Amino acid sequence: MIQADTSTPLITVVGASSKQGRSVAEALLDSGRYRVRALTRRRDSQPAQILAQKGAEVVVAPLELGMEAELTAAMSGSYGAFLMTPPIVKVPPEEHELTLGMELANAAVAAGVEHVVFSGLENVEARTGGTKWAPHFTDKAKVEDYIRSLPVRSSFVYLAFYYTNFLEYYVPQRGADGITFPIYLPPHIPMPFCDPLTAAGPAVREIFDHPTQYAGKTLPVIGEFLSAQEMVDTFVRVTGQRAHYASAFSREELLHHFPSFAADEHLVRELVGMVEYAVEYGYYAPDRDLTWSRKIDPHALTWEQFLKRSNWQGDLLSYGATSEADLLST
Ligand SMILES: NC(=O)c1ccc[n+]([C@@H]2O[C@H](COP(=O)([O-])OP(=O)(O)OC[C@H]3O[C@@H](n4cnc5c(N)ncnc54)[C@H](OP(=O)(O)O)[C@@H]3O)[C@@H](O)[C@H]2O)c1
Repeated sequence: MIQADTSTPLITVVGASSKQGRSVAEALLDSGRYRVRALTRRRDSQPAQILAQKGAEVVVAPLELGMEAELTAAMSGSYGAFLMTPPIVKVPPEEHELTLGMELANAAVAAGVEHVVFSGLENVEARTGGTKWAPHFTDKAKVEDYIRSLPVRSSFVYLAFYYTNFLEYYVPQRGADGITFPIYLPPHIPMPFCDPLTAAGPAVREIFDHPTQYAGKTLPVIGEFLSAQEMVDTFVRVTGQRAHYASAFSREELLHHFPSFAADEHLVRELVGMVEYAVEYGYYAPDRDLTWSRKIDPHALTWEQFLKRSNWQGDLLSYGATSEADLLST
């Protein structure tokens, strides 16, 4: 195991086995400039074990409501903290994510953390005048507002749609006429996407490397903008398989292609609200700097590079973390 140099700043990474968290923890460790404390529910999971081998201190701390004291203890001695909230849960209590995010932030402040980086998203409620419902966006924006009111330096990263969504949640379906690729977006509207496993880390490391420069900043993390049809065309070109786009944009289309989603009405409403918001208002607010992440991480993966690197052929894939698919099957 790598022996950590205690003279380097300690960063606590919440949700360290998540795709985002794993990326952040690895980027910080690989730089050699930071020590990492990795918070997880399961010390024995593969991602947690890999982080431990790379030199992270793995600490068990569930991301649940009412755990502020435990989270404060888990973050004690940290200079910085990367805070994230887990994916949409089945029928959560109202404002679950907002409360969890606030408790995480309170814990960081109580632990004496100097710089918090929170993984946020736009305020859909505010941007749409309350006409679209996507609380996993809006609650993050409200957490951001709350963090900005606290006596701690803070920065915010907004990750684009994940490429991995099609590997984990909206998996293509094989049939006699090739692969049907149901996508939750209309065919020809460019949208921002990224690979969370490789894009989150460089962005957050850049912020911790230049803390005062990024104090108070909100920074989109994007691999590239591309349309659903371009995604499918690229998939065909890279894999050599026959595939065609199918719309899973409307509620009816979504449930037609993914009937198991119907078991969770909350999830369906959130997904429909989210994509309608993204299409009608734009995923990011107009004043965001959409070029920043490419500038600081010129190697951020495009969809084509992601496909080549992952060698994904269109099948269901698990990243070893809790997924919406896991949640639906329980
Ligand atoms: N999908 C997208 O396109 C997209 C885009 C932008 C932002 N986001 C946001 O990204 C976040 C998810 O990040 P991710 O995809 O990196 O996560 P992920 O890979 O699905 O992992 C979630 C992690 O959360 C941890 N966790 C702790 N308590 C949990 C709980 N009660 N229920 C479920 N998981 C729990 C789990 O780790 P342990 O088991 O080790 O504790 C798990 O590894 C969400 O807030 C989502 O809104 C998603």
